[in-house]
Amino acid sequence: MSVTELFDKAAAGKRVDRITIRRPDDFHVHLRDGAMLKAVLPFTAAQFARGVIMPNLVPPVTRVAGAIAYRERILAARPEGVDFRPLMTCYLTDATAPDEIEKGFSEGAWVAAKLYPAGATTNAHYGVTDIPGLAPVLERMEKIGMPVLIHGEATDPAVDIFDREAVFMEQSLLPLLKRHAGLKVVVEHVTTAETVDIVRAHASRAAGTITPHHLVINRTSIFQGGLRPHLYCLPVAKRERHRLALRKAVTSGDACFFIGTDTAPHRRTAKEAECCSAGVFGGATALQTYVQVFDEEGTLDRFEAFASVNGARFYGIELNRGTIVLERRESPVMAAVAVEDTEVVVFQGGETLPWSVGEVSP
Ligand code: DOR
Ligand code: ZN
Repeated sequence: MSVTELFDKAAAGKRVDRITIRRPDDFHVHLRDGAMLKAVLPFTAAQFARGVIMPNLVPPVTRVAGAIAYRERILAARPEGVDFRPLMTCYLTDATAPDEIEKGFSEGAWVAAKLYPAGATTNAHYGVTDIPGLAPVLERMEKIGMPVLIHGEATDPAVDIFDREAVFMEQSLLPLLKRHAGLKVVVEHVTTAETVDIVRAHASRAAGTITPHHLVINRTSIFQGGLRPHLYCLPVAKRERHRLALRKAVTSGDACFFIGTDTAPHRRTAKEAECCSAGVFGGATALQTYVQVFDEEGTLDRFEAFASVNGARFYGIELNRGTIVLERRESPVMAAVAVEDTEVVVFQGGETLPWSVGEVSP
């Protein structure tokens, strides 16, 4: 924020340097497994009370038993004294059985299912090749009130990468919303102004998550001064007008938008490679980035709804009871997190951010 803007706010008696909000949740997290899980989990757990855990492991989490086992591994990887609660998801394939979906939901093994169009992104090759063919599964989910979480990108390689979200919305999402009129749908990591409008138009049973990085980078950032692999994710960042629309959406106070960081760690060796993996590791700086956006937009009073209320209400889970403090206090961000013999580069790592995470009360 510029000095002039700060001065204007101060003059209007508006500058707020510290907010205490209900503890937030992250409705879209990739925690991976093994050494990577152990390395990245502490960062998400320091910021969020709960996380909706993406199932795109190798092999993916497609069965109830697999989700229960993965949940146990996450719980075991938590640092001592940390109360982070993982909310699991099921990875949909062409072979998913409606009974298995319902079993996991009714037993509390998972809270939602993730729909990856086959091949759309990292470990999405077991995903769904025929979305209309998923009707029996989606009908069952509609009946039991279980949300489907959608990676909304067309997979036809002939579609321009910057148009993949728009094409998916027209060709697949709108028809799906029509076919399944009562299905709860989360459009994950919204990146365009048009998708924001679609979510709003279906807000009675649709919602959208928005990542921290899509609020602060646009597609030009990926090429600023050279190719920046650590800013490459899917869906890829779009033009500036879309970034501005996303900032408007999150700060609007509308209940259909909430946090989904899409924190997606990859080893430096996989990012700085001939073929760079998609994913931004935003888990260590998510809240600092989000709150900075709300501050810059003059909407700090709306941050709690976006961070800690809208998502829980949409999923029909109770709100967290504890609190977290966010304060205007500059703090340097670590550049990278060590994982085995390599490391994961942190989004905004090495920078000094104006906001910091303060005290957490459970
Ligand atoms: O950039 C991404 N990375 N987008 C996704 O949808 C998946 C994720 C990952 O798992 O790395
Ligand atoms: Zn993701």
